[in-house]
Amino acid sequence: MLKGRNLLEPMDFTIEELKELFNLADQIIQNPELFRKACDGKILATLFYEPSTRTRFSFEAAMLRLGGQVIGFSEPNSSSVAKGESITDTIRTVACYADLAVIRHPKEGAPKVAAACTDMPVINAGDGGHQHPTQTLTDLLTIWKERGGFENLTIGLCGDLKFGRTVHSLIKALYRYKNVSFVLISPEELRIPDYVRKEILIKNKIPFEEVENMQEVLPKLDILYMTRVQRERFFNEEDYVRLKDRYILDGAKMKLAREDMMVLHPLPRVNEISVEVDDDPRALYFKQARYGMYIRMALIMSLLGTEPKEV
Ligand code: NCD
Repeated sequence: MLKGRNLLEPMDFTIEELKELFNLADQIIQNPELFRKACDGKILATLFYEPSTRTRFSFEAAMLRLGGQVIGFSEPNSSSVAKGESITDTIRTVACYADLAVIRHPKEGAPKVAAACTDMPVINAGDGGHQHPTQTLTDLLTIWKERGGFENLTIGLCGDLKFGRTVHSLIKALYRYKNVSFVLISPEELRIPDYVRKEILIKNKIPFEEVENMQEVLPKLDILYMTRVQRERFFNEEDYVRLKDRYILDGAKMKLAREDMMVLHPLPRVNEISVEVDDDPRALYFKQARYGMYIRMALIMSLLGTEPKEV
């Protein structure tokens, strides 16, 4: 049962619970009409202390498509945050008005701190360079729908593996499935943090390799997960400029990949996928963004414990 729970880390949900969530998302995809009033009378608060397009809009669209209402801010300076209010006071206040809250914050662990001082379910929508569990749900639903499951996959993750929170969360969720291996493609400076390498991959004896060259590993990948170099987390602009265009997936590189390799990207993209790849049937990133709305509909219903209602 997910009712009343938080989603702060990708591993907060078991494999069985995830399966239920995917099944519910699939029912919504098959028959969205049936869910049009599932969250009638409920209110979702979106507290975004950092920019967002897909995560905030997909949460808001998800709640509206379930018949619920949305309050919140996308610009913290338009709220009492500008007056110096702490996140714990903000969440206590929001809990007086809303039934669940989604928080994106530049500080690692901020959603966890907020969740600790309320009974209202809290969802982490990205905390600094740490985790982004609902992007992971989006990625997993995409793989499940397009591939049928998570076993026996070789997954390449490319780009900013150091600061890219979507990568950390995806590895944390996927290593639990049978016969999964990872190919980590990044420059030396942007390699995966130790807490993922040591505490997840090495500790659980998950096969992985760390490489700098994308071309040489492309032919063996089932999935290529591209990421943006996270400019906002760099200490100096010079390093960013030096590293930002290190990997660009284009039509020529796609020729090296398998016919059925899936290209995923959490978006926004900057230069790391050339627009000519968009028409390739293997490019699934915009479809992925749509799955993101459906999985968030399933997540909201599950945390609130609501059922489809007669319309
Ligand atoms: C990602 C994020 O915010 O971490 N975006 C998203 O939520 N789809 C990836 C990114 O910003 O590069």
